[in-house]
Amino acid sequence: MNTRRAVVVGDVIDDIIVVPRGPIRTDTDTAASITRHPGGSACNTAAWLGWLGAGVDLVGRVGTGDAERHADALRASGVDAHLSEDATLPTGTIVIVVDGETRTMLTDRGANATLSVNAVTDALLAHAGVLHLTGYSLFDAFTRDDLHALVARARAAGVLVTFDPGSTGFIADYGVESFRAALADIDVLLPNLDEGRLLSGEHDRDAVAAALVGYCPAVVITGGSSSVLVARRGEQSVEVAVEARAAVDPTGAGDAFTAGLVAALLSGADLVAAAHEGVRAAGIAVTQPGGRPVLSR
Ligand SMILES: Nc1ncnc2c1ncn2[C@@H]1O[C@H](COP(=O)(O)OP(=O)(O)OP(=O)(O)O)[C@@H](O)[C@H]1O
Ligand SMILES: [Mg+2]
Repeated sequence: MNTRRAVVVGDVIDDIIVVPRGPIRTDTDTAASITRHPGGSACNTAAWLGWLGAGVDLVGRVGTGDAERHADALRASGVDAHLSEDATLPTGTIVIVVDGETRTMLTDRGANATLSVNAVTDALLAHAGVLHLTGYSLFDAFTRDDLHALVARARAAGVLVTFDPGSTGFIADYGVESFRAALADIDVLLPNLDEGRLLSGEHDRDAVAAALVGYCPAVVITGGSSSVLVARRGEQSVEVAVEARAAVDPTGAGDAFTAGLVAALLSGADLVAAAHEGVRAAGIAVTQPGGRPVLSR
């Protein structure tokens, strides 16, 4: 069978996780455990897609000298990485300071900011069934016109476009109105409930869904261990149950959800069946440390 591929576009990040061994002291040293992990929402989604057995291309940008390291990490999960290098900007980096239950994230988008939509070639789209994008690319890499042009090319190639808004903080920085305007022509929007609330200006989940299908024909709203809502314009919404698990690490749950959903869409599932597969993949992700699938050696 000639199943089409997923093309995932966006962030390549080095996550630096800092766990201080005591209260952080200013103006002197605080002992800490500091580990580095390859991350980034787009890369994590791609890695889960590869792990699920889907054919997947990841398009992204890193600092000079880092393409091979990131491509190798992605290849281990079955992803074909198409990474360009920026001569002046470093690889995007997020320092995550863990303090009990809270996490403070300090983000340098680095080379992600100069990813060009033209890196998503027509040759890649020719083999694609789904193009997945995230809101992070909108904050610097792509103008709204860039995004519209890319989505138009995908559409012309018969490719479905999914979009994860990504971060309430960045949506607020970008401006809710402008963000909404960018969503024209996206096929499936994948917000979590907080992002959905911010984008719709509504609070109640059904009202959020009703408002968002005004911008985008299909919306799938996640909410941690609560159920998922699948809303399609002109149709009754469908709730998909989530079996709550004791999360080892919720990092990347949303990205794994997207991967499960996209993989199912590629195999011809409808959106509700695909949301079930999203829940299944995310349920595995929350029981593993880190944002990518744990690979057996
Ligand atoms: N504790 C949990 N038990 C089972 N499934 C969970 C749990 N937490 C999250 N999930 C699954 O992960 C999906 C996505 O979670 P969530 O809504 O938190 O995404 P998110 O906020 O986008 O996460 P991320 O920080 O990865 O972007 C949920 O719809 C659910 O299927
Ligand atoms: Mg998310």
